[in-house]
Amino acid sequence: MPKRYTITAALPYTNGPIHIGHLAGVYVPADIYTRYLRLTGNDVAFICGSDEHGVPITIKAKKEGVSPQDIVDKYHSIIKTSFEDFGISFDNYSRTSAKIHHDTASEFFKTLYDNNEFVEEISEQLYDAEANQFLADRFVVGTCPKCGNEESYGDQCENCGTSHNATDLINPKSAITGNVPTLKETKHWFLPLNKHEQFLKDWILKGHKKDWKPNVYGQVKSWIDDGLRPRAVTRDLDWGIPVPVEGGEGKVLYVWFDAPIGYISATKEWAAREGKNWEDYWKNDDTKLVHFIGKDNIVFHCIIFPAMLKAEGSYILPENVPANEFLNLEGNKLSTSKNWAVWLPDYLVDFPNQQDVLRYALTANAPETKDNDFTWKDFQARNNNELVAIFGNFINRVVVLTNKYYDGEVPTPSDYNAIDDDTIAALKAYPAVISSSIERYRFREASQELMNLARLGNKYLADEEPWKTIKTDEERTKTVMFTALQIASSLAVLSEPFLPFTSAKLKNILGHAQLESEPNWKMASEQLLLPAHHKIGKGELLFSKIEDTQIQEQLDKLEASKKANALAHKAVEPQKEEITFDDFSKLDIRVGTILEAEKMPKTKKLLVLKVDTGIDTRTIVSGIAESFKPEAIIGKRVTVLVNLAPRALRGVESQGMILMTEDSNGNLVFVNPDNKEVADGLKIS
Ligand code: 2FM
Ligand code: ZN
Repeated sequence: MPKRYTITAALPYTNGPIHIGHLAGVYVPADIYTRYLRLTGNDVAFICGSDEHGVPITIKAKKEGVSPQDIVDKYHSIIKTSFEDFGISFDNYSRTSAKIHHDTASEFFKTLYDNNEFVEEISEQLYDAEANQFLADRFVVGTCPKCGNEESYGDQCENCGTSHNATDLINPKSAITGNVPTLKETKHWFLPLNKHEQFLKDWILKGHKKDWKPNVYGQVKSWIDDGLRPRAVTRDLDWGIPVPVEGGEGKVLYVWFDAPIGYISATKEWAAREGKNWEDYWKNDDTKLVHFIGKDNIVFHCIIFPAMLKAEGSYILPENVPANEFLNLEGNKLSTSKNWAVWLPDYLVDFPNQQDVLRYALTANAPETKDNDFTWKDFQARNNNELVAIFGNFINRVVVLTNKYYDGEVPTPSDYNAIDDDTIAALKAYPAVISSSIERYRFREASQELMNLARLGNKYLADEEPWKTIKTDEERTKTVMFTALQIASSLAVLSEPFLPFTSAKLKNILGHAQLESEPNWKMASEQLLLPAHHKIGKGELLFSKIEDTQIQEQLDKLEASKKANALAHKAVEPQKEEITFDDFSKLDIRVGTILEAEKMPKTKKLLVLKVDTGIDTRTIVSGIAESFKPEAIIGKRVTVLVNLAPRALRGVESQGMILMTEDSNGNLVFVNPDNKEVADGLKIS
């Protein structure tokens, strides 16, 4: 039975182009899922748009000396083009600066306000007197109270994913001036998540959400178990949607309040254009709502947005939120500021018309259950060993031989032998196999099953050797070529969600549009798709080999980024204010030896060390776990600031600080000026 689906993909921030991490984590899986739903006859609205509010955009505008509107206009257009270029088949790609979105978000806020769903409160918030500005979200950095990450933002820690209030940060610092903020009173509206705790428990924990991916369910459960607190949904900023109620002058909606409503406004915009009723896609219990997101967005889509929808009262809730983990690049975190990324517009310059290769490599290696690494070598291998050697090779042989032996006409088969029967039975089973993986959001597995179908074709040809039997047994050759053509035809249909450009080319070669009814997913499981006497076209190259030199060029680009980044580091960290000798002599820095090291449970960054300082043996908690394995640093000689006031991190008292710096990859290293990987000017801290 066809169903109605609303599929959303996280609205990207418009403060830069998008890179392979975005594509792998959100947009390719969402597109595979949506294309599959459409191919299997469902009614789908695939919705996305640019997230054009929020602090990062204003920071970027300030840095470039232009207006936030200039920034969002520029990147909205770049991002939209990238999505089109890579075949991400949104039904609507809107933007949150659109009037329809401002109206929808304001109305949503007013409804909650009128229903007394907010708590209005005057509280003390972080304030930068020099910048004359409240410090919300990314305007402030400090230590995460949950994991000890020293670079947590005001609203969210990117290390552990926790969403918090800016006033929860330890040692907050203004991202504008570097000043320590003061506190200043201001009025805001809070969504009392605590009030929705029971509903969230029933809906997610007691409900049927155990089929959510374990990474999503686990994170959500842990937040709910920790207890939910009210979250401010307004900000003292001038870029965003004005707070539409009395007393809201000079304030805007928190970007994470307005952005998910963007899914609704983009659906409205699409429905008006297409003559549909948007409410069918958001207010009808028969509709399945699925949010595709990255793992840093889980709290917003599984707790805050559902609480907003529930509080409003007339909306459906998500059926699933298949969040992915992160993709790394050549062993390091993708980073916009360090230019450690493969940007989609750049990829297309270097690999023109090879969108499907990237889609495939990212899917085959998708970070579905854990963070994964993209390497150019793997990309090359996926192309050369799978797309070219298996898929492309099979199609090429089928098309070339059909043209050579039968002038492009599908031959009439005679008797099938057991191998043919088995091959045809296996062929017809593939749609169900691939469907099952896609419906469980296992796109890696699904892509491998697709490749297995091409393998089936290759093996069949290799075993049956039509190029030999053509000399001895014409009838047998016709049966083999007929069967091989059926496999090629199923590949054309079943590859569409994964390799849309290739699928279109292949359908064109095989003349699908000229058939009485165009083959689809269901037909591929029930019947053979190409009848005898149907005429196919000439071959066309589907994939081409990627050479080592092309891969080396990409690696060289990354190496150049690394170097530029190291230099930039040097340039951007100006010397601090002058100090006196007395100031300096207050620091007591000693040489020490690490005696023991172990990971702090439930953290990613922290190691608990026992250090012999010569004075004593003491415990020091150090945020170096991502750069060192505990066993590798035992016996290491280090520099230790021994008279730093002790402080507790995750319940362990740290009695000093190990001095560290960074190598050109951004990895932490112990202070050793002879280390050639450490650029002059890098800070020791
Ligand atoms: O993390 C991000 O890039 C956000 N702009 C995602 C927003 S998703 C949605 F809720 F709009
Ligand atoms: Zn954290």
